[in-house]
Amino acid sequence: MEFAVEVEILARVRHRNLLSLRGYCAEGQERLIVYDYMPNLSLLSHLHGSHSSECLLDWKRRMDIAIGSAEGIVYLHHQATPHIIHRDIKASNVLLDSDFQARVADFGFAKLIPDGATHVTTKVKGTLGYLAPEYAMLGKANESCDVYSFGILLLELASGKKPIEKLSSTVKRPIVDWALPLVCDRKFSEIADPRLNGDYVEEELKRVVFTALICAQNQPEKRPTMLDVVELLKGESKDKFSQIENDELFKSPPAIENSDGKSAAEDDSPDLIVEVKESKHDLKDNTSV
Ligand SMILES: Nc1ncnc2c1ncn2[C@@H]1O[C@H](COP(=O)(O)OP(=O)(O)O)[C@@H](O)[C@H]1O
Ligand SMILES: [Mg+2]
Repeated sequence: MEFAVEVEILARVRHRNLLSLRGYCAEGQERLIVYDYMPNLSLLSHLHGSHSSECLLDWKRRMDIAIGSAEGIVYLHHQATPHIIHRDIKASNVLLDSDFQARVADFGFAKLIPDGATHVTTKVKGTLGYLAPEYAMLGKANESCDVYSFGILLLELASGKKPIEKLSSTVKRPIVDWALPLVCDRKFSEIADPRLNGDYVEEELKRVVFTALICAQNQPEKRPTMLDVVELLKGESKDKFSQIENDELFKSPPAIENSDGKSAAEDDSPDLIVEVKESKHDLKDNTSV
């Protein structure tokens, strides 16, 4: 089933920031999809995996990856007909070509949104840490679910932290719970990935983290569209950006702020019931830190 979905979607998409289809084979039991090989593998492998110690992602590359992958998703949400939601935006699904340009990949969970529909109600699929809360709880999927996941991805890209950080063997902290209080206190330098050694453009870092958090807020109707996201990341809309800077969300440190992690989710708290996709590669990448 995933195979058929992936081939159907891939046949429709063509954009410089999407990994497109070279060919496929469906004969007897054989199922094969051929893509261009991406020599720099995935963003995950550079942030947390086999390439993370090489520090190949300088700030310029990170900005290009942020903007490029956002433009790939704009194509899916706003230019493809019917519109497509990806439903599994995450670091292991952003591949990097020989110039470190982003290519969003892995359309196995993607959904076509029929013309005029505001959302589709479906079985929840995706990856813990990146799932929008309303989608995880109600199975209501539309473009804003991808926007939420993209916000998490942006935080990960800027900070080098994982979407869910293990504080101890039983306590986990979502990246938003860590980043939001720092942004409320305007402590942007504490968010920047230490591997950048302070070598980043402060204005751009601010754009990335504000945009990330406005994307990854709980109320889907308050999230921006991916078109807004591209504008914000490129610094093209001063008005929209100052509106965001002054948003309620960033006024006072939220109740979840807690440096000892007490309010972070306990491991034995009931997990959301989701069909979580974790490929062997993801597991390998995640554990090779
Ligand atoms: N075209 C490619 N070039 C290089 N590496 C790839 C390519 N496609 C996938 N990979 C690697 O394999 C991993 C899993 O691929 P993906 O298509 O996302 O499959 P899955 O459905 O298992 O998540 C990626 O995170 C990446 O590291
Ligand atoms: Mg994948």
